[in-house]
Amino acid sequence: MLVLDGKIASAAVKASLLQKTDALKAAGKRTPHLAAILVGNNGASETYVASKVKNCDETGFGSSLIRFDNDVTEADLLAKIHALNEDKNVDGILVQLPLPKHIHDEKIIEAIHPNKDVDGFHPMNIGRMVQGMDTFIPATPYGVLLMLEYFKIETKGKHVVVIGRSNIVGRPMSILLSGDRPQGNASVTLCHRNTPKEETIKLAQQADILVVAVGIPNFVSAEMIKPGAVIIDVGITRVEDATAKKGFRIKGDVNYEAAIAKASAVTPVPGGVGLMTIAGLLMNTMKAYEGKF
Ligand code: GUN
Repeated sequence: MLVLDGKIASAAVKASLLQKTDALKAAGKRTPHLAAILVGNNGASETYVASKVKNCDETGFGSSLIRFDNDVTEADLLAKIHALNEDKNVDGILVQLPLPKHIHDEKIIEAIHPNKDVDGFHPMNIGRMVQGMDTFIPATPYGVLLMLEYFKIETKGKHVVVIGRSNIVGRPMSILLSGDRPQGNASVTLCHRNTPKEETIKLAQQADILVVAVGIPNFVSAEMIKPGAVIIDVGITRVEDATAKKGFRIKGDVNYEAAIAKASAVTPVPGGVGLMTIAGLLMNTMKAYEGKF
């Protein structure tokens, strides 16, 4: 059983990026810069954004964290994005989701210049991705691809079952893995909340690679895992636990003990896909800096 350790795979990605930024610095050049916008004080979002900023530091990238109160107007948020779009020292812009209910996510995402959309959420970039064109791939699916590449997991001709159809993970993941690309060429089945659970179970049992992104701890039980399957657990849910130092524990979507008993390879939570998401984001920010598409 192989643990698909996100620490190891993301360290490799970060080391190659650090080499590039060291070379840029040695040549007296500016390094990539990420601007992250955080609205409100959602605990999980705070943690994710802090981690993104820290990882920028570690790879020699510049970063700015721009905070707004929960009651920020859509107009103020849009004005900031427009300013960042114009700022020549900012290569990548991300707006941490979820946003407060009075803000329309789509409007905010569409306001980000597609060439600075390092989250890969802009409809133009999604369209490019669907067509197999070069673009920013959404950070989490990109991180999963980087993980599969690092651990040399073959996807061609395999049956992949993706559970969850979010715009951020499940849907782009299903498109990428079925595409004609490295870490693609799989036959992909996409299950979601309207797939009867017994059907999801039956399909999961046939999966050579099972990708789960539903945000429900322990959604995948032992019976859903084909012996020898590769399990990619994208879930990161905070579960209250009075015995934990912070008062909660991070849980994935997969019963980890069941997975390590039956699968050939499993991503741990924490320490798996979450770290790869940041690697994907950093890769996209370097790509934005290099102006490669
Ligand atoms: N919220 C959960 N995942 C993500 C992500 O990848 N990017 C942003 N901006 N927000 C998120």
